[in-house]
This record gives sequence, structure tokens and C-alpha cells, in this order.
Amino acid sequence: MKIPKVSIIVATDKNGIIGKENKIPWRCSEDLKHFKSKTIEQTIIMGRKTYDSIGNKPLKDRLNIVISLSLNAKFNMELFTEENGPFIVTSIEESLKIAKEKNRGEIFVIGGQSIYEYFLGKNLVQKIYHSIMDIEVKNGDAMFKYNKSKWSVCRTVSYKTFYLKILKKI
Ligand SMILES: NC(=O)c1ccc[n+]([C@@H]2O[C@H](COP(=O)([O-])OP(=O)(O)OC[C@H]3O[C@@H](n4cnc5c(N)ncnc54)[C@H](OP(=O)(O)O)[C@@H]3O)[C@@H](O)[C@H]2O)c1
Repeated sequence: MKIPKVSIIVATDKNGIIGKENKIPWRCSEDLKHFKSKTIEQTIIMGRKTYDSIGNKPLKDRLNIVISLSLNAKFNMELFTEENGPFIVTSIEESLKIAKEKNRGEIFVIGGQSIYEYFLGKNLVQKIYHSIMDIEVKNGDAMFKYNKSKWSVCRTVSYKTFYLKILKKI
């Protein structure tokens, strides 16, 4: 299979924290708008815990793919539609196969920590949309880490409440 191009979209505090107790530890409506504008009518891939954290239901008007190894989690499949999913898969390879078959716009990996690491570790990511909040979260338990020497900043945008860096693979 020819591997499709994948982008990460992530929001962190100043120190790379993305989550605490399976929630995003801030509320930033401007960043949510940015997230929606990038991902609407596109494909989103996420880990099962992130799927739980967004309410155990697919995000509207996007192709939702959820990676779960154990498949022990309870998925409310009454919400399933062929158009938006959620398609539940047990590996990255399977998530990319469905994304490729369905061919719905850009493929975004939307978290959480383990899924970001998984895609970065397999060298599958071409672009990172990194929103940086001007805050420092105490006792965060999920992080976004990447090797800065392998990425170049191709654009930055200052919003009122956060700063966006768009990075491309060198
Ligand atoms: N700030 C942001 O932009 C942002 C975005 C997304 C999430 N978050 C935060 O990130 C945190 C969640 O991150 P997380 O790392 O704990 O969880 P996660 O990556 O969302 O989900 C982890 C789950 O994904 C499945 N999984 C992981 N690796 C797998 C593999 N190799 N093969 C198959 N399935 C695999 C497993 O599901 P099973 O247990 O079902 O097997 C695992 O428990 C939360 O705090 C959330 O709010 C923040």
C-alpha cells in the first residue's frame, strides 16, 4: 500500500502538556475553531482514550477512525454511519488503509500522546499543526514530544489566545 500523507494537529501548553486525567486542561474556543476549520470534511485518526474524552461519539462531518488494541472499550455503534464512522481498528496500518479507501481530504492524527508517538515513531507524519497556549499546566499526565531537529517551521500565526506553528518534515 502506498502510504498516504498524514498531518498531526495538537494543542499544548508552553511545556508540551496536552492532557490531564483524560481531558484537555484548558478551554480555548479560538483553538477549537481552528481545529474545526482544519479538520471539517477531512479524516481524523485518534486513540481510544481520546475518543472517550470527546464523549465516545464521532465528531460531526469528519471521517472518524479510532485505534483500540484491546477492543474492550464500549463503543456505541448505534452512532455509526458509513460516512463518518467511527471505524474502530486495531493498528495504524488498518487506520491508514481505511483512510486511503475512503479518501476524505487530509488525514489528521488528533491524539492522544500514544497515537502521536506511534505515528511519529513510524515516520509517517509530514506536517504538524502545533497550537501553543500561553499557560503552564501543573501535573499534566499526557505530553506531545517531537524531535525538533527533524522539523522546520514553515509558518507561524499569532491568534489572540494562542500561537500556531506549522512545521514540515526536513
Ligand atoms: N491537547 C491536545 O491537542 C489533545 C489531543 C488529543 C488528546 N489529548 C489528551 O491526550 C490524553 C490521551 O492520550 P493517551 O496517550 O493517554 O491516549 P490515546 O492515545 O488517546 O489512546 C490510547 C489508547 O489507544 C489505543 N492504542 C494505543 N496504542 C495502540 C497501538 N499500538 N495499537 C492499537 N491500539 C493502540 C489503546 O486503546 P485500548 O485501550 O482500547 O486498547 C490505548 O489505550 C488525554 O488527556 C486527552 O485529553 C490532548
